[in-house]
Amino acid sequence: MKKTLTIFLSALVATATAQGQVSIQVHDDAENQPVIPAAIYGQFSEHLGRCIYEGIWVGPDSKIPNKDGYRTDVLKALKDLKIPVLRWPGGCFADEYHWMDGIGPRENRPKLVNNNWGSTIEDNSFGTHEFLNLCEMLGTQPYISGNVGSGTPEELAKWVEYMTAEEGTMAELRKKNGREKPWTVKYLGVGNESWGCGGDMTAQYYSDVYKRYALYARNYAGNRLFKIACGASEDDYEWTKTVMKNAGNRLDGLSLHYYTVPGWDCNKGSATQFGPEEYYNTLTRTAAVDEILAKHTAIMDAYDPDRRVALVLDEWGTWFEVEPGFNPGHLYQQNTMRDAMVAAINLNIFHKHTGRLKMANIAQVVNVLQAMVLTDKEKMVLTPTYHVFRMYAPHMDATYVPASCRCGKIHSSDGREMDDFSWSASRDAKGVLHVSLANPRLEKDVTVELSFDKMKVKSVSGELLRADRIDAYNDFGKAPEVTPVQFKDAKIVSKELPGSSKKKNCVTLTLPAASVVTLEIK
Ligand code: AHR
Repeated sequence: MKKTLTIFLSALVATATAQGQVSIQVHDDAENQPVIPAAIYGQFSEHLGRCIYEGIWVGPDSKIPNKDGYRTDVLKALKDLKIPVLRWPGGCFADEYHWMDGIGPRENRPKLVNNNWGSTIEDNSFGTHEFLNLCEMLGTQPYISGNVGSGTPEELAKWVEYMTAEEGTMAELRKKNGREKPWTVKYLGVGNESWGCGGDMTAQYYSDVYKRYALYARNYAGNRLFKIACGASEDDYEWTKTVMKNAGNRLDGLSLHYYTVPGWDCNKGSATQFGPEEYYNTLTRTAAVDEILAKHTAIMDAYDPDRRVALVLDEWGTWFEVEPGFNPGHLYQQNTMRDAMVAAINLNIFHKHTGRLKMANIAQVVNVLQAMVLTDKEKMVLTPTYHVFRMYAPHMDATYVPASCRCGKIHSSDGREMDDFSWSASRDAKGVLHVSLANPRLEKDVTVELSFDKMKVKSVSGELLRADRIDAYNDFGKAPEVTPVQFKDAKIVSKELPGSSKKKNCVTLTLPAASVVTLEIK
């Protein structure tokens, strides 16, 4: 019964899709375009479920192959992703984390109850050294999320000193614990969700608290902190307004959290069991981030017209029901081709907002919410979302290339709408153009024609991600169902310009239903 209903609804929601044809004009001669900050491809690692313990850290004595306690399969997968920035230790966990419990000989570290996430007992064996050494191994910038909710300004100040000072009491302690040189720590979050799990504060009160904590977080030994204040959830524009007004001149970044939760009434729906209706609701909900980013940007522009303060979307991604049989507090969910569509649509949107949006961190890197990799004891799979991040990697630090697109609309049953095609383009340091396209339609392949303002295309190649079913995922011990393949369908064609003897150079291709492609165009 449910299936028949959803198929009928899908016919309704998809009526707005046009004839399966999309024209994109790439404005490759546009000047003064922003660089897409690599940091919008950032990740988030929280002490939540099996993200840190088992997912990243198994300890040096584990039977799971590891390098100094970090599991080798996950380490390799994450290295290949070239993660620009990694946030830690939370999330809600951060505001109950006392960093001093996670340093010194591991056998002496006290145990903690992870009050936010399933009351799991953790042994603190993954602490400051383990995290910052991981960042060095991955070549990623650490983003430390400081405890403001239950910690003190002194505790945060000493943590910064411990990590970054050359000398002094905290530096001596660090040296005693085996690390001579300070680490480089640029990003410091001053509280997380301070309006909720991070202290239940009003925006006005938090603004003052922020200033107090930020004041004592000092720059040592040439290390320059980039201080990020706790920002709003979703469309709480009043929070952004109040913090910008009261503390805007004291912060480098202001955060924002936006999750893709498709269901009504707190029913998030299953990560793997869904029909077209839930699929389109998920996508239109995710695409709404465009308006959310634009509105927070407009408020920040009013207080900071020079755009000195960065907007930092330090939590985003899909949030579905926990997989059956798993601890409800551990937020473990599978990851399907639907998640890949969500990732592609978000990244295409983020590229448009980099005038203000300077960082984004998808939640969470391993085993929690929209993860890059999932583990089951010694087994590991790469998720469809992982593949999108890897396919989009050429956009990191590339120059944004604007493009306009003629496409239709999708209307979902929850009353939202979105473009029925998603696109973005950038040019890398070698002058190579990359165009990423996503066709969200479940039922139709789309013929795409790409035209260029200036460029004479000589070659085009690409990588495609699609699956036989939208709910396909990569499962443990089975051949992967969602994995990228070489895309050979793009062709260079020469077309007559209407009313002129001149010809224009185009690329044409057919993008299969519910698929993502990144083209390399020279
Ligand atoms: O990502 C899970 C949780 O979502 C984070 O800990 C918190 O910041 C947010 O509410």
